[in-house]
Amino acid sequence: MKVDTDQNAEFDALLDYLKQVRAFDFSGYKSESLRRRITKRMHALSIESFAAYMDYLDVEPDEFRSLFDTILINVTSFFRDELAWQYLKDVIIPNICKQKGAKETIRVWSAGCASGEEAYSLAILFAEELGEVDYRFKIYATDIDESALEEGRSAVYSEAEMKDVSPERREQYFERCGKDFVIRPAMRRTVIFGRHDLMHDAPISRLDLLSCRNTLMYMNSETQARILERFHFALTRHGFLFLGKAELALARSELFTSVDTKFRVFRKSPIYHQMTMRQPEPDLPDATMMKRTSETRSLCFDASDNPQLLIDLRGNIIDVNAICYSFFRLSDQVLGRPLNSVRLSYSPIDLRAPIEKVLSSKKPIELKPLSYKAFGAEEKILSVSITPLPRDSQNLLAVLITFNDITAAHTLNLQLEKINRELNLANEAYHAAQEALETTNEELQSTNEELETTNEELQSSNEELETINEELESTNQELDAVNQELQELSKRTRAVSVFLNSIITSIKPAVVVLDKNFNVLLWSEKSTDLWGLRSDELIGRCFLDLDIGLPVSELEEFLREFLKNGLSMQETSVQAVNRRGKPLNCHIVVTKLPDDNPGLVLLMEPAS
Ligand SMILES: C[S@@+](CC[C@H](N)C(=O)[O-])C[C@H]1O[C@@H](n2cnc3c(N)ncnc32)[C@H](O)[C@@H]1O
Repeated sequence: MKVDTDQNAEFDALLDYLKQVRAFDFSGYKSESLRRRITKRMHALSIESFAAYMDYLDVEPDEFRSLFDTILINVTSFFRDELAWQYLKDVIIPNICKQKGAKETIRVWSAGCASGEEAYSLAILFAEELGEVDYRFKIYATDIDESALEEGRSAVYSEAEMKDVSPERREQYFERCGKDFVIRPAMRRTVIFGRHDLMHDAPISRLDLLSCRNTLMYMNSETQARILERFHFALTRHGFLFLGKAELALARSELFTSVDTKFRVFRKSPIYHQMTMRQPEPDLPDATMMKRTSETRSLCFDASDNPQLLIDLRGNIIDVNAICYSFFRLSDQVLGRPLNSVRLSYSPIDLRAPIEKVLSSKKPIELKPLSYKAFGAEEKILSVSITPLPRDSQNLLAVLITFNDITAAHTLNLQLEKINRELNLANEAYHAAQEALETTNEELQSTNEELETTNEELQSSNEELETINEELESTNQELDAVNQELQELSKRTRAVSVFLNSIITSIKPAVVVLDKNFNVLLWSEKSTDLWGLRSDELIGRCFLDLDIGLPVSELEEFLREFLKNGLSMQETSVQAVNRRGKPLNCHIVVTKLPDDNPGLVLLMEPAS
């Protein structure tokens, strides 16, 4: 017994944990079957106790997915229970379409829709009844399981999942996508998917048909009764309720009367519903009046599929659309309460001051976009508009707050901004490249001009060079001629020199020729024989400085006198020593060179 009590406590703790951590409240489910399914999952993981399983969920968050798959049995199919659907097609749907005005939209709710097959089955039947071009119906498809809803939104079904769809319907309402089938866009647009918890979220209202099949049977009778009350409220006066095969007993309450017991179709009983929703305070005439007017309802519910709420002039919430309830997880107790007492008044954005402003200015306000992540859904970008609803030209009736989903536009805008930035960058790069090209071009042009100038200069230098060349050639020719002459001259000089040499050699005395300063100009071989020194050692040296056997200092005066006295020849004798050191009396004859080439010729020989 003790063990059971512990297990119960652990089980309750686990349910509480799922509610706190994942916002899944399973307290209203049939306890035994819920327990059985959780235990089955625990056994698959070899976990013995609920407490240990809670610890496991703590460290393995992916396990939540498997647990919910086990608990939320998503089994479904197109036209599940064929005969019931045939009855719906033959009797109920024609009835609904007939009741509705030609321009009225038929509103249908598939509650607990799983992966969407039930919702699309309903859409197909209404399309068939109304004619394919006239899709004036809306199917709200809701479920607590976001991943099942994702499948519904994608609208892709395998061959196996299509087994109950006839070839004609496949052809008409589906497109082939590889091996799979996808719902055609026009049909897809008639179904709106949204997360909705039947136990906690306010119902979608003004329904012509509510299909909730094979979902309530997992909940305990108290929860079922509560949900059936909401369904009663949600249906129009002539609305139908379509339950699952195993849900006969459910609708046997005073709220519904059976239309066909076999196929589980019921109709709303005309009794005043005792919803748990709070009614507006009786001392709020604006609120109560608006609650009754269909105008207010259509403003609130038909304007768009975006979350909306209406508040009266005192700031009390007087209506909230279904999407708003589930999107912001509002409790159905908010109706009639001041908006300022609800978290939504300041989160995700402060609505209080803007509402005050709209009430005083009577002008609409658009708040700046914000990003918001509803539980279990993807992050969305919302723009918030606060619109005053006038009662007459002077007074307001209420204020409508709309959260518009602008995610797609925002994403496009971001993409556009990115593309624009990239374009600007490309543009800048292009301009920079163009400028660089222009600069290079200018540089090239100026280089070209410089080259042309240089070319001209070169041409003129060339011409100058050619002239110089020509001049050089002629100079060269002249030089050649001079050279030839010189060579001639040199030849002749050599001949003269040889001739002179032969004369001098043939002269018996030693011959020495001096210039007017007594430098040796010629020294004959006979002089070498006599005095010992060679001609090449003496040419250019002063005769008076020579250290030879001849006493040149004794001769100096004689020679100077001779140069002065104007005689053409004079003789003298001096005592000398020849090259072999033998003393001799040297006879010297001096003659003068002509005046144009002044100098002396000395002829020397030993006196006999
Ligand atoms: C067996 S399926 C039924 C699908 C479909 N209606 C049909 O009959 O084929 C039950 C569905 O109810 C959903 N469900 C369970 N509890 C829910 C709740 N509190 N609110 C909304 N849906 C719930 C589950 O996620 C599951 O997809």
